Amino acid sequence: MKKILVTGALGQIGSELVMKMREIYGNDNVIATDLRKLESSPVVTTGPFEILDVTDHSAMLGIAKKYEIDTLVHLAALLSATAEAKPLLAWNINMGGLVNALEVARELNCKFFTPSSIGAFGPSTPKDNTPQDTIQRPTTMYGVNKVAGELLCNYYHKKFGVDTRGVRFPGLISYEVLPGGGTTDYAVDIYYEALKSGKYTSFIAKGTKMDMMYMPDAINAIIKLMEADGSKLIHRNAFNIAAMSFEPEEIAAEIKKHIPGFIMDYDVDPIRQDIANSWPNFIDSTCAKNEWGFAAEYDLEKMTTDMLQKLRDKGIGTK
Ligand code: NAD
Ligand code: SER
Repeated sequence: MKKILVTGALGQIGSELVMKMREIYGNDNVIATDLRKLESSPVVTTGPFEILDVTDHSAMLGIAKKYEIDTLVHLAALLSATAEAKPLLAWNINMGGLVNALEVARELNCKFFTPSSIGAFGPSTPKDNTPQDTIQRPTTMYGVNKVAGELLCNYYHKKFGVDTRGVRFPGLISYEVLPGGGTTDYAVDIYYEALKSGKYTSFIAKGTKMDMMYMPDAINAIIKLMEADGSKLIHRNAFNIAAMSFEPEEIAAEIKKHIPGFIMDYDVDPIRQDIANSWPNFIDSTCAKNEWGFAAEYDLEKMTTDMLQKLRDKGIGTK
């Protein structure tokens, strides 16, 4: 990876991935793009940045050629809750953007990464220790997009020889940028509210287990998979990767260890709860461990300590 183009670079993942990649590969070698431009973001101020709508193939190709990229990291997408609210827009951005990005990778012979999600599973998928290869009949637009995307990436590898790679991320928890409209966002919001007001109203119901991961592990996973020896990859795309799995009451109990007066109640959002109910409790990441050495450093306890400290360092809250 010498010249890397990142789409959706101002989002929750991109904001941290771009900075980490610039540290490793050099500021000028990571070209950040997004539909919008945030002038004060380090993603914009520390290296090349271009406005790019991923549904515009010729604009994407133009930027890719201008910077002579050899790697494309495609992150731009609508997440599960937003996609459920705007299904047609989600289809157009999630599928249209992906096929454009794959076409650019094919045309310029680029290495390619895009994330799938635990959202690619559905109610008929085995819920516990969900295998790498299993039933995928999601009931959300986001899930439909993710399964089709996984297959499309496999197709571009088989048909055109594009070096496509990807993971199925669980809910990602981070402190740099707020999440962009997902079902797992409660597990980020809860830290902010715990520090600001000492209480949180969860839109996800008690007893709903979902896989989660702290952002540093997610960023490391992307870089590790992209640097892995391609000849050892049996799956290539959509590797299950997991770090921890918890219910709202478990994260609340962990926060309580740091903020003893913290209280949580519930006001369940039926749409996001329905999405959460259709996802696994915890997925099995054995293939990622065996094929490219995936490992996560953070569990709930370690993440909570770090997350609260980092948010306090940013001046969030008084608790
Ligand atoms: P995000 O919502 O935080 O960021 C997405 C970015 O894409 C935003 O900056 C937005 O401006 C941009 N964007 C939207 N429409 C665009 C368009 N038409 N053209 C160009 N840019 C556009 O998302 P994220 O959390 O960073 O997720 C990135 C990828 O990772 C997505 O494919 C998502 O499905 C996947 N993923 C994320 C999580 C998570 O918990 N964050 C979990 C699993 C998978
Ligand atoms: N965090 C993401 C979402 O909830 C999972 O893909 O949409």
